Amino acid sequence: MNIKIVKKKRKIAVTLFTMLLTSCTYNHFNEISSLCAGFNISLTATVVNTSTCDASDGSLTILATRGIRNYSFSINGGSYQSDSVFNGLKAGNYTLSVKDKNGCSASQIATINNAQSSLTISIATVPNSGCPTPNGTITVTPSGAQGTVQYQLNNGSFQPSNTFSGLNAGNYSVNAVDASNCPTSGSTTLASNGPSYKSDISPIIVANCSSCHSGNRNPNLSSYTSIKASGASIVGAINSNMPPGGKLTQQQIALITCWVNNGALNN
Ligand code: HEC
Repeated sequence: MNIKIVKKKRKIAVTLFTMLLTSCTYNHFNEISSLCAGFNISLTATVVNTSTCDASDGSLTILATRGIRNYSFSINGGSYQSDSVFNGLKAGNYTLSVKDKNGCSASQIATINNAQSSLTISIATVPNSGCPTPNGTITVTPSGAQGTVQYQLNNGSFQPSNTFSGLNAGNYSVNAVDASNCPTSGSTTLASNGPSYKSDISPIIVANCSSCHSGNRNPNLSSYTSIKASGASIVGAINSNMPPGGKLTQQQIALITCWVNNGALNN
C-alpha cells in the first residue's frame, strides 16, 4: 500500500509523506474484488493552503498511479469526477478518494492548513482605583502580526485601539485578529486598588463621626475593627441622616461606599 501526500505551502512544495490505505470497494462483484487484489493504487495530492485564515481558496490536486486508467476522483464522499483538481476549499481535513477503470479505489486524508499567523498578544493591566467611576485599564501588546491588528474585550466590538479604559476590577477575555484573519486570545484579571483605610477612610471618620461615636454611642467607630464590622450600617447612615449636622460630600460618601464594597480592607 503506498499513498503519498505532497504538501505545499502556497506555491512551494514542502513535504512528502507516505501512508496507509488502499481498498477495494465493489465487494459485491467477486471478479472485481479479485482483480483489485493485485493493485496498490498510489494516491498523491498537491495541497495549496488558504491565503488567509477564513479564505476559501485552498485547493487539492489528486494524482493516482498504479491503477488502470482512467481514474475518477472524489473528496469527502462527493460524486466522482474526472477532473483531479478541487478548488475553493476552506482549511480543514479532506478525504480524497480515487477510483480506477476497474472500480478499484484508494483513499486518504489530506489537510489544507490555514495561512500561518504568528500573532501573539501580551496583556498588561492597571488596577481599578477609581471611585465611584472605574478607571482600570487593559493594554494589549501584539507581536508577530501581519498588518493591522484589531482588539476585542469580552464580547464587545473589535477596535483598532489596543487600550481599554474605564474598567471595573474583574476577569476579562481579550481577542485579537490581524490582517490574515487568524485570531488569538488571552485573558486577564484586573485587580482592585480601592480606597485606602488609612489615608482615605479613617480621616473622614475621625473628622466627622468620632466626636459622637468613640464612646458609648452605637456604633463605636474608634477602631478599624469596629468600623469594618459596621460597614453596611455606616453606608446606610451616611446616605441618610449621618452626620446629623449635614451630609458628607459626594466624594466622601463614594470613597466609604467603595471601600466597604471592596471588602473594607485594612489597607
Ligand atoms: C453629633 C453627633 C453625631 C455625629 C457627628 C455622627 N453621629 Fe451617627 N449617630 C448619632 C446619634 C445620636 C445616633 C443615634 C440616633 C440616630 O440614629 O439618629 C447615631 C446613629 C448612627 C448610626 C446607627 C444608625 C442606625 O440606624 O442604626 C450609624 C451607623 C451612625 N450613626 C454612623 C455615623 C457616621 C458614619 C458618622 C460620621 C460620618 C456619624 N454617625 C456621625 C450621632 C452622631
